[in-house]
Amino acid sequence: MENFNFNGIFLIIAILALILHANETLSEEDVPLVYDYYKETCPLAEDIVRRHVEIASVRDPRMAASLLRLHFHDCFVMGCDASVLLDDYEGTVSEKQAVPNFNSLRGFEVIDEIKYYLEESCPCKVSCADILAIAARDAVGLRGGPRWEVLLGRRDSLEASFSGANQFIPAPNSSLETLISNFELQGLDVGDLIALSGSHTMGKARCVSFRQRIYDDVNYSRKHRDKYKRYTTFRRILRSICPESGKDHTLAPLDHMTPAKFDNHYFLNILQGKGLLGSDTVLVTEDHEGEILKKVWAFASDHELFFDSFAKSIVKMGNINVLTGDQGEIRRNCRFVNT
Ligand code: HEM
Ligand SMILES: *[C@@H]1O[C@H](CO)[C@@H](O)[C@H](O)[C@H]1NC(C)=O
Ligand SMILES: *[C@@H]1O[C@H](CO)[C@@H](O)[C@H](O)[C@H]1NC(C)=O
Repeated sequence: MENFNFNGIFLIIAILALILHANETLSEEDVPLVYDYYKETCPLAEDIVRRHVEIASVRDPRMAASLLRLHFHDCFVMGCDASVLLDDYEGTVSEKQAVPNFNSLRGFEVIDEIKYYLEESCPCKVSCADILAIAARDAVGLRGGPRWEVLLGRRDSLEASFSGANQFIPAPNSSLETLISNFELQGLDVGDLIALSGSHTMGKARCVSFRQRIYDDVNYSRKHRDKYKRYTTFRRILRSICPESGKDHTLAPLDHMTPAKFDNHYFLNILQGKGLLGSDTVLVTEDHEGEILKKVWAFASDHELFFDSFAKSIVKMGNINVLTGDQGEIRRNCRFVNT
């Protein structure tokens, strides 16, 4: 009996030592994001963001899509740290000048507006990176998409990466293989690639982004003749608004069926050869094992399944290389690091 107690005490000591050790190794960079991060410091943070995302989307219906994309372009370059929001300044070359972003990325003024109201309510508490994550969630919800709880506590970077923006954001003429490795570099798998590509259920793209796709003389599918016919009609319409040269900035909806709604029509579109971008098309044309095609069919026929997968994948995306604890800073102005 005495012996048993003795062992018990040793066991407790061993467990305590383990816990203490675990705490020690849990250094600043391992601080995880949490749901109620602003509960004490800025309880209205999420309300303020939502309200302004709503206002901005009424003013400009495309804004919901643009805000979603902003979060993506933030996370793929050095992690979700609001590096994408920095303007040119002294040592900083803005990511806004990089090829995927220039004349394309939008919504910066909306983020400024949200930040302004947050600074009024709770100065220097809410990071720009968290604003991007909350705004993306609200933008999707507002357009009829899934809602999810946003993990918070991100901090803002002290620098931008122009070259990173050129390197890590996938181009619309990427092969499937390139897309997969692009996502893998960020710790995202093929399932995430398919689900997150479903973002192209809303918003628009410029002629320069889909020109190559509509002029490349590649058959959509030799196996399915009828599909190929539908594809050529679709292509003819697109060619009429996007000539072989010029009109680079003419816009076409990414989802021609329901351009302003967040739904699963994107997957129906790509199955019919009517995805706008090359990167949309390759999901069904270059998938030789048919695994992606299976998932695309599943999402096309079950919007709940797509919504659940999308929510899981975007939460995962929102965790890429986040700065937490006392890394980085809380920017007062999302366009500049604090001096
Ligand atoms: C799979 C690789 C991807 C590629 C190659 C790609 C590429 C593009 C391109 C070229 C455009 C049009 C830009 C323009 O012409 O101005 C676009 C628009 C858009 N992308 Fe993606 N994208 C990808 C993944 C994603 C992801 C993961 C998201 C969100 C999580 C996303 C959200 C959007 C949205 C919402 C728009 C419309 C933006 C607007 O109307 O302002 N995309 N994308
Ligand atoms: C993709 O487009 C870019 C810019 O238009 C071009 O330089 C590049 O060669 C294209 N890549 C492929 C694989 O077609
Ligand atoms: C496209 O299909 C047509 C008709 O089957 C064929 O003659 C042509 O070679 C194909 N083109 C390509 C690039 O595969």
